[in-house]
Amino acid sequence: MGNPVLLRPAQPVLDPAAPEIAELIHDMIETMAAADGIGLAAPQISVPLRVIIFRVPHESATPETEEDDHPAQAGAPLILINPEITPLNDEKIDDWEACLSVPGLCGQVSRFRYIRYQGLTPDGQLVAREADDFHARVVQHECDHLDGILYPQRMTDLSTLMFTSQAAHYGEQVEPA
Ligand code: NI
Repeated sequence: MGNPVLLRPAQPVLDPAAPEIAELIHDMIETMAAADGIGLAAPQISVPLRVIIFRVPHESATPETEEDDHPAQAGAPLILINPEITPLNDEKIDDWEACLSVPGLCGQVSRFRYIRYQGLTPDGQLVAREADDFHARVVQHECDHLDGILYPQRMTDLSTLMFTSQAAHYGEQVEPA
């Protein structure tokens, strides 16, 4: 938190198949795994490009749309290049979030409950999918990183900003993203 690369919009990837993008994705997957994260955006490892990775718990994976040839696999990180989000309606819900770039803290954030998102895979194929609840929340959190926004900037009630160790006392286990 405070690093300028986290506070400004990231640039689109022009060639998803470029070797440096493959190297970036490899680094992101290793970083996310080492930190026990649920998601990661390239600016979090100081690379100002529009690349995100995230894991989707199986139970929250929703049916894919017909153009989606890359179904979400439980546990396996999904990689999206130049992702875009469209809310499906105005409904929002509050839930806990934590961030690898804001270590040790968590807080409640209001997010769209139902979204559609799309992006490119590393081999340049278009993925388009609908998501809800936690799945939708993780994608919104990661895409915010690409626009220079950290979750505390989305919080409307700062009284819920707390140490993850404190949240654990309330039974909340919040995976950082
Ligand atoms: Ni984050």
